Amino acid sequence: MIVGVPKEVKADEYRVAVIPAGVEELTHAGHTVLIQTGAGAGSGIADDDYARHGAEIVPAAADVWARADLIVKVKEPLPAEWPLMRAGQTVFTFFHFAADEHLTRAVMASGVTAIAYETIQDARGHLPLLTPMSEVAGRMSIQQGAKYLERPQDGRGILLAGVPGVAPATVVVVGGGIVGANAAKTAAGLGANVFILDVNLDRLRYLDDVMPPNVTGLFSNRHNLLDCLRVSDLVIGAVLIPGAKAPRLIRRDDLKLMPPRAVVIDVAIDQGGCLETSKPTTHAHPTYIVDDIVHYCVSNMPGAVGRTSTYALTNVTTPYVLHLANRGVDGACLENSGLASGVNVRAGRVTNAAVAATFGLELATG
Ligand SMILES: NC(=O)c1ccc[n+]([C@@H]2O[C@H](COP(=O)([O-])OP(=O)(O)OC[C@H]3O[C@@H](n4cnc5c(N)ncnc54)[C@H](O)[C@@H]3O)[C@@H](O)[C@H]2O)c1
Repeated sequence: MIVGVPKEVKADEYRVAVIPAGVEELTHAGHTVLIQTGAGAGSGIADDDYARHGAEIVPAAADVWARADLIVKVKEPLPAEWPLMRAGQTVFTFFHFAADEHLTRAVMASGVTAIAYETIQDARGHLPLLTPMSEVAGRMSIQQGAKYLERPQDGRGILLAGVPGVAPATVVVVGGGIVGANAAKTAAGLGANVFILDVNLDRLRYLDDVMPPNVTGLFSNRHNLLDCLRVSDLVIGAVLIPGAKAPRLIRRDDLKLMPPRAVVIDVAIDQGGCLETSKPTTHAHPTYIVDDIVHYCVSNMPGAVGRTSTYALTNVTTPYVLHLANRGVDGACLENSGLASGVNVRAGRVTNAAVAATFGLELATG
């Protein structure tokens, strides 16, 4: 099979979908790997490193897309890439369809098989390809939150840790999954006073067992959420209903309850965001202010720490790429039902129930 890796085109996206070790495994298994010139540069991987491990370096993205049976990417195809997708091809990447109807319709129209990293499941029903990026984004959310709480960055002028004699910041984490737990742990490690809210009581029990004493778990309902917002310096949006648009838990009116120039990092923005006032931003212009609250809504946070993220992502994606290349989509999905749950669009039809429900599209089964 011909596996193609285009250079990412999203603003400030420095990740790459395959590293030289992956090229080595694929070529060893008899596949051809096309790497677009400069695809690894943002992660510190030179074309020569790929070539030395058996890749063919291809200058133009259009040629990679034209020749490859399996395109492996990091972010969803952007409009400039839509005309390059072609029927019969498989595209394996993060898609986050529920957040973007135009993308969903473009992928349907193209005829590609779209396998979305974010809905692939493991034997326990977890989302193994989302996990490492959520770990990065969760930890990074506190780093970013700490920065934007500084006054020159428009924040409240609060040091997360406080100092002896001055209280630390209060951090409210909405959603206690991978992003939330990593955010809570990082904030707690810096000495902040942390509340973490979730609707899953088993998850809250687990967090109660493993988190340090400055993290308090709370059941997520509107009453507890509003109580938390009143005292919050930093809010992390980390809810997920897999495949679906994020629930808009924080309404515009709720912002008035928060201290002026508090900061919200809405990590869930890639699924539409969990604030009514959230809209996607980029690393170049990450924040904006609504009702005196600083919003940070970068939809590809891990892209900024490309080297860490590339290695963390490819640790989990490479076995799937190899399986798809070796067995083809049908064979691989038959052998791995968790991979099959990653197929969101096939032959112009939506095969993921949450995506179909989000846009009122017919769900193709079987
Ligand atoms: N912006 C970025 O760059 C970036 C990077 C990585 C992940 N993400 C996104 O972050 C979000 C969270 O990812 P994750 O891996 O932590 O997911 P996860 O499934 O591990 O956790 C989500 C948690 O939200 C909880 N939840 C659901 N409804 C809730 C509610 N009403 N109130 C409180 N909690 C609720 C769930 O019980 C679950 O524990 C996803 O949308 C993911 O795509 C964004």
